[in-house]
Amino acid sequence: MPTDDEIKEMQRADWNSVADAWDKWDQFLSDSSQHINEWICQGAKLAPGKTVLDLASGSGQPAITAAKHIKPGGMVTALDIAPDMIAVVARKAKRNGLDNVEPVLGDMEDLNYEPGTYDAVTSRFGFMFCPDLPKAFSEAKRVLKRGGRLSFVVWDKPEENKWLSQVIGIMNQVAPGPPPDPKAPGIFRLCDQAELAQLLQGAGFERWEIEGRAFPYEFDGPEHYWSFVTDVAAPLRKRLDSMSEADRAKVKELVLEEAKKIDIGNRVVYNANTLCIWAE
Ligand SMILES: C[S@@+](CC[C@H](N)C(=O)[O-])C[C@H]1O[C@@H](n2cnc3c(N)ncnc32)[C@H](O)[C@@H]1O
Repeated sequence: MPTDDEIKEMQRADWNSVADAWDKWDQFLSDSSQHINEWICQGAKLAPGKTVLDLASGSGQPAITAAKHIKPGGMVTALDIAPDMIAVVARKAKRNGLDNVEPVLGDMEDLNYEPGTYDAVTSRFGFMFCPDLPKAFSEAKRVLKRGGRLSFVVWDKPEENKWLSQVIGIMNQVAPGPPPDPKAPGIFRLCDQAELAQLLQGAGFERWEIEGRAFPYEFDGPEHYWSFVTDVAAPLRKRLDSMSEADRAKVKELVLEEAKKIDIGNRVVYNANTLCIWAE
């Protein structure tokens, strides 16, 4: 069993290795899921002048959307553990002409801020990669002002996210490994609503709401889908890179076969399902 520090070191390396891909797929991601970013900002009750801490900010969402909502006078701290992902946030803020985003390198389980610093804490697809979840949620709560909101999004169950889980299933079939630890950090680690509620309660939140929200990933055919999923999903990328060339080719062949079944003239659409949560 790796220690928490070793897990974080792995997270840093894995996400650094896909940072350029998050830049490359930026427009596609925005086109597919901007309404999730808007939901997070509404859940956090953002308004001009507010201060926001965006955790696991990585490629810059929802930090960039939040920065627009809190103008004028507001400020977003965009925190991530991977330096190359933080560089993506900085570039994106510049491209968007935003001077109210401060990219910061840091660990969301160990925040360097005084209690009650922020009006809101946000995160998209970040909490599930923390080895110590009670600590991560307690830290989010600690830095919030009284009455402030945590608003975040995680992936729903694997069976609700075939675009991702079918690739994992095919990898397991082609190159079986030891059974994964269900409590290990990973893409679907926070898909259990009862556990989410327990974690929020344990961190001292008094009220919360969990809402399922879906969006379509629309690809220009199976190859486009394969490029996306293997470019941006760091845990998948890592596993693929560790396989033999023959196994990698087999995985790709089987994934493309699955995608072809739903290809309607170079249009492959998968529904992505998320859990959107606010807590105060
Ligand atoms: C799937 S990406 C999400 C990035 C961005 N929020 C988005 O939705 O586009 C997950 C991010 O979590 C970051 N991360 C993982 N563990 C972390 C930790 N302990 N503290 C801060 N960031 C962490 C990774 O570096 C990576 O950038």
